[in-house]
Amino acid sequence: MKIAVVGATGLVGTVMLKVLEERNFPLTELIPVASEKSVGKEITFKGKKYAIVSMDTAISMRPDIALFSAGGSTSLEHAPRFAEAGTTVIDNSSAWRMDPSKKLVVPEVNAHELSIDDKIIANPNCSTIQMVVALKPLHDKYKIKRVVVSTYQSVTGTGVKAVEQMMNERKGIDGPMAYAYPIDLNVIPQIDVFVENGYTKEEMKMINETRKIMSDDSIRLTATTVRIPVMGGHSESVNIEFENDFDVAEVRELLEKTEGIIVVDDIANLKYPMPKDAHEKDEVFVGRIRRDESMPNSLNMWIVADNLRKGAATNAVQIAEFLVKKGLV
Ligand SMILES: NC(=O)c1ccc[n+]([C@@H]2O[C@H](COP(=O)([O-])OP(=O)(O)OC[C@H]3O[C@@H](n4cnc5c(N)ncnc54)[C@H](OP(=O)(O)O)[C@@H]3O)[C@@H](O)[C@H]2O)c1
Repeated sequence: MKIAVVGATGLVGTVMLKVLEERNFPLTELIPVASEKSVGKEITFKGKKYAIVSMDTAISMRPDIALFSAGGSTSLEHAPRFAEAGTTVIDNSSAWRMDPSKKLVVPEVNAHELSIDDKIIANPNCSTIQMVVALKPLHDKYKIKRVVVSTYQSVTGTGVKAVEQMMNERKGIDGPMAYAYPIDLNVIPQIDVFVENGYTKEEMKMINETRKIMSDDSIRLTATTVRIPVMGGHSESVNIEFENDFDVAEVRELLEKTEGIIVVDDIANLKYPMPKDAHEKDEVFVGRIRRDESMPNSLNMWIVADNLRKGAATNAVQIAEFLVKKGLV
């Protein structure tokens, strides 16, 4: 397996390399790619140094899989070039997610949809991934009617520039701004740009991507996405109304049995998921599971995951592992 990591110097790309190494992905050759300005720089993988190569060099090396995390426009331009050379692209940007001809995949939910003909596969938005992992087993059992979600998202979701902005603010240094406002000691109720209906693009991604991944356009969902000054991961307050009633103990049990989920829900001992604890973990953490007493058949829960891991790198590597295991690449 020749694997290209496109965006290897970025926040997601760096975690991608770490995840490939930790999970002992069966690769025989690594091809790290970044922008022209980084060509020749070195990265370390499994104790060995690799020089960053250009996009053209990488395509000429015909990798089996290319894991892309280099922004939407880079992906739109170059992913089809890799695909034409026979490479299967797994893309982290939003470029292909809503393209009806491309699969949008969270392995725990819909990896079974993948076939050998899928040459560009989209990785969903980070806040969507962690939510659907927890929604899927509940949808299968009780059928979701409506979801109301509010997010508390880490600055790492914006990339290197945003982490630098927050750290500069903490040190009192004037530097480049990734956000329109200071982020440290602040909360910004805007992620991505606003669209015509008054929502942000991030909010619309959560709505549209959830329906596509769960293959169910009847799910009603509304979202408010918020940036907060934390680094470890994204948190979400999720309220779900089901078609059918449930037992809270059974919900907890169902989630505990679901692959990729760790339930942390012991209020007597003040145990609940927090981004600090999810940091550098591959799982989705669920807690504060309780009935919404204001509505029939309704549930509240709190979902936390490392957005650079399950929200990006880990999910992409899991898709690659699935393709290898099933002989789809
Ligand atoms: N951060 C998250 O939680 C998250 C989650 C899901 C998806 N994503 C998506 O993943 C992508 C990367 O995010 P990030 O947070 O890692 O950003 P980042 O830290 O800013 O890194 C961007 C990476 O892309 C490379 N790049 C930029 N333009 C390029 C070009 N023309 N050709 C080749 N490489 C190019 C950069 O290389 P240089 O170092 O050479 O500039 C760098 O390696 C984005 O599309 C983002 O939407 C991010």
